[in-house]
Amino acid sequence: MSRTINFNAGPAALPLPALERARDELLDFAGSGMSVMEHSHRGKEYEGVHDEAIALVRELLAVPASHEVLFLQGGATSLFAEIPMNLLEKGKTAQYLVTGAWGEKALGEAKVVSALFGASVAVQSTGVGEGKEKSYTRVPAGAQVAVDPGAAYLHITSNETIHGVQFNVDASRPFPDTGSVPLIADMSSDFLWRPFDVTKFGLAYAGAQKNVGPSGVVVAVVSKEVLDRGRKDIPKIFQFRTHAENKSLYNTPPTFGVYMVRNVLAWLKGQGGLAKVEEANRKKAGRLYGVIDKNPQFFRSPVEKESRSVMNVVFRLPSEELEAQFIADAKKKGMVGLKGHRSVGGIRASIYNAASYEWVDALAGFMEEFAKGK
Ligand SMILES: Cc1ncc(COP(=O)(O)O)c(C=O)c1O
Repeated sequence: MSRTINFNAGPAALPLPALERARDELLDFAGSGMSVMEHSHRGKEYEGVHDEAIALVRELLAVPASHEVLFLQGGATSLFAEIPMNLLEKGKTAQYLVTGAWGEKALGEAKVVSALFGASVAVQSTGVGEGKEKSYTRVPAGAQVAVDPGAAYLHITSNETIHGVQFNVDASRPFPDTGSVPLIADMSSDFLWRPFDVTKFGLAYAGAQKNVGPSGVVVAVVSKEVLDRGRKDIPKIFQFRTHAENKSLYNTPPTFGVYMVRNVLAWLKGQGGLAKVEEANRKKAGRLYGVIDKNPQFFRSPVEKESRSVMNVVFRLPSEELEAQFIADAKKKGMVGLKGHRSVGGIRASIYNAASYEWVDALAGFMEEFAKGK
């Protein structure tokens, strides 16, 4: 069987060993004569997987006792609403630093919730232009972020999957320093490809379907302070504290999804930890941006150098016709998922943890060949 070279933005490629493990264990999990999907979420077999997955997140990110690891449902999109539901109150302001389309979505939900609660939302945006023409090409430098010390929290999208702009790749573009204001980050396409200091975050959350596993699971690292601060007058299911108090077993979790996350985390640990994984990822991104920069007459990165994403490499060719041909020719070579998001067009190669250097090198070689032939 040959594996397709998969540059999908999410759901995305999963590490082959994690899939093989699932295949091997599918019909008979741990000698139980049942698949893990058929076990009770309150039984020792599933609970072992669940606990191991939480412990692996803690170990990989060195999560201290000040923070909890949660598995939530409803996608990162649900958290766009749940975050203001938990943390906004009358007279308070939530700050949104919007650096792309996902940040806009998060902001939209915060506006709805703030209107219900008599709170408000303050926006800083790096977007240029209006409507469909609006483009995002950078994250701000540290000093450019204005933090209101009285804000309920500051929300960022640490990597904008569609626009390919990312915080903290270049030293001049660190995660904002928010002091005592909780920093909340949508890390969906930024989670577990490198180490980061979780103590700087009140809440970091990620839909699993990019770097960590299948869709349907959200992994969140949340401070006890943020948990304590959360409102108690919203439905229990939406209170983050409910899930922390019940070890993410308040209701039935997506057991197979968490099981797959466990497999991916175990594979990540086997790679030697996140510092090693970061090195590999930066090498992959460097290979692609190298081809783009060496061929400026043919490839163009719309993103400012200091903000270029290591996870989602977006670029343009001289015309939309050439872009369509590039995608079609790449497909003939066994490479899929290169079409940019429908809202922005162009090309996007998503090169999360499971995309090997060999895959990326094959794409880089194809780019060089394609540019030469035109
Ligand atoms: C940065 C970011 N945030 C949020 C989402 C939405 O995630 P979900 O579809 O799991 O709700 C995505 C999905 O692609 C994303 O890339």
